[in-house]
Formats: sequence, structure tokens, C-alpha cells
Amino acid sequence: MNSPAQASSTPKLTPNMGLRERNTFGFDAQAEFAYEITSAEQIPAIVTQITEQKMPWHVLGGGSNVILPQLLQGATLLMNIADQKIVASNDDETLIAVGGGVNWHQFVSWTLDQDLPGLENLALIPGTVGAAPIQNIGAYGIEVGDYIESVEAFDTKSNAFVTLENKACLFGYRDSYFKQNPHRFIVTKVVFRIPKKWQARIHYADLAKQFASNINPTAEEIFLAVCKIRTHKLPDPKVIGNAGSFFQNPIVPNEQYETLLRKFPNLVSYPDAPGKRKLAAGWLIDESGFKGQRMGKVGVYENQALVLVNHGGGTAQDIIGLAKCIQDKVRTDFGVSLEIEPNIL
Ligand code: EPU
Repeated sequence: MNSPAQASSTPKLTPNMGLRERNTFGFDAQAEFAYEITSAEQIPAIVTQITEQKMPWHVLGGGSNVILPQLLQGATLLMNIADQKIVASNDDETLIAVGGGVNWHQFVSWTLDQDLPGLENLALIPGTVGAAPIQNIGAYGIEVGDYIESVEAFDTKSNAFVTLENKACLFGYRDSYFKQNPHRFIVTKVVFRIPKKWQARIHYADLAKQFASNINPTAEEIFLAVCKIRTHKLPDPKVIGNAGSFFQNPIVPNEQYETLLRKFPNLVSYPDAPGKRKLAAGWLIDESGFKGQRMGKVGVYENQALVLVNHGGGTAQDIIGLAKCIQDKVRTDFGVSLEIEPNIL
């Protein structure tokens, strides 16, 4: 493949760019051609170029939800669109427009500095703002989709920028219209709607425990508590490579749940849509005996069985091999299929 020509309107291009620092698993991956995207206006020209040269392409935000191969062929768009500003405010709510490349946790911190609480339960989730709506990140009882007014993206199907209002984003558990249409949208900006009326959400078991003797915590206290819980349960990717939860919590019909519960009275689960129950994948994997186990250079984290880790020098193949062992054993033990959460590129 010829090296793509660099027109003046296109962003900085780096051939053979190392991506080890750009994926939280710390896999030693390389992008054949990496483009650093710092403004939305750069995207149409790049997409035209990629299409004309029939190059494969990928979009990388914080690299916190991907499994990268050793060589990422074609063009990799590194999303670095910055900027965050309050665009409207009234007695009821505040609208904030944020560039897709902004670090998620820094944005959450900033909202608290601006006295705009609401997102504190989502503190310390790795990745970028642009990636947040794609898998509808969620933690400790809230999901980002509940705070999104609209998402701006470049639609590679229509070759135009589009704005999807909240309803059109079809947010569900770890799901969205963007995820259902992979390889189509490049998210450039997210507009958040933060209600002025704030209420602490501490019903989630881990938080309820933290606030047993302080039932009216401030948003800052919740922010700090979430950071503390996550720091204990989830490894710091700078120290041990990981992509957070590796599997989704499986949703099963009530009848299957009841049969399982009779056999495994300690089974952990949550209510879901009528007639369905969400099982804690971490519990299933733990019960199958994988917690803290190693398989070569990869393994299952010792404090949270839902997190697969790269102990150093592991590859995408290693982690997928381990995932398959876990899926097979959980299927044999419980008759439940586990879906891999990160994107395998
Ligand atoms: N459990 C075990 N053993 C384990 C891990 C968990 O028995 O090794 C049990 C726990 O006892 C607990 C239950 O499973 O009762 C659920 O575990 P936890 O509270 O840690 O939450 P989770 O369901 O494993 C989900 C999200 C996380 C999010 C937390 C907190 C998914 C796939 N994961 O984890 O999201 O931070 O809830 O809200 O929904 C992520 O997506 O990367 C992520 C970290």
C-alpha cells in the first residue's frame, strides 16, 4: 500500500506509530498510519482519502475498551479533539459541550469544580468523552446516556456530520445506536444535560456500604468514594494492563435465573427488564475458579474476576485465548454465555 499523501487540510500523519501507550491493556501494537485528529473539520478530508485509497480504518479514543492486534493495518484516527464549555444554563439545567478527545475522568472532575454535580458516580472510568456514548458507560447505579442531550459525529455512510438527539442514540445497557452500527460514526462532540436539582445516588451496594453512617453525602464525597472503590477493585492500567470489565453482565430469562438460583443460592443478580434478570458475570467467573489465575502473560485480576489483565508482554491472542477458556467453563458450569465487552480490532 502506498503511503497516503498528506494534503495541507489533513492532520499530522505518523507512519508505523507505536500504540503501547494508547491502549490500556498495554499491548505492543503498531498503527500502519496514525492521524492525530485535533478538530472535527479535519475528518471529511481524511475519510475521503481513506475511501479513495480503499484503506481499512479504525478510530482510537483513550484505548480503554479495545483489544489491539500487533499491526493495525491502514489508517488509525487518534481522537484528540479538546475543549469543553457551558453552552446554556437556566434554572433547571446546564448544557455542556465537550470535545470527543477530552479525558472522561478529567471532565467529571471539572463538572464538580464548576459546581455541576451529577456525574460523580462515573468517576475514574478510563477513556475519552467521545467513547462514553458508544458503549453507554455506566457505574454505581447510573449510565451516561441519562445525561446526554445529543451527540455530534461524522457519519461515514452519508459523508456528513450528524447530530443525534438523546432518543436517536438508543441507549441501553452497554449499548447504543453507535455500537449497533460499528464502523460508521466518528464521535466528535457530546452535549451533556446536567439537571440543577441534584440528588445523591448511593443505592448501589458498594456505595451504600460506604455511606451507611452518612446518608446525605455531598457529590464530592461520592466522587471520592467511587474513586476509592474503583482503585481497590480495578487495577490501574498504568501498572497492570486491563480494559475494565471484560465481559458484559449476562441477561437471562427469569425461569433460567430461578433454576440457577435453586442450584446456586449465592448467585448474585440484579433486576432487569420485566421477565429478565441480569447476572453478575464477576460472580460466575469467580465461582468457576478463575479469580487470580494466570495463563502465561495474561490472567484474571485477583480482586475482581470480571477484569482480565496483561501482566506484561501479553498479546491480543493471549487474552482472547483466556477469554475463550472462561466462556467455555462458565457455559459448562452455568449454561450462560458471556459476551466480550471490549472491541476486538
Ligand atoms: N463478584 C464476585 N467475584 C468477583 C467479582 C464480583 O463474587 O470477583 C460479585 C460481587 O460480590 C458483586 C457482584 O459480583 O456482588 C457485582 O460485582 P461489582 O459490584 O464489582 O460490579 P460488576 O457487576 O462486576 C459493573 C460494571 C462495572 C462498574 C460496576 C460498578 C459491567 C459489565 N460492569 O461491574 O463497569 O464499574 O458494575 O457499577 O456492567 C466496566 O464496564 O469496565 C466496568 C468496570
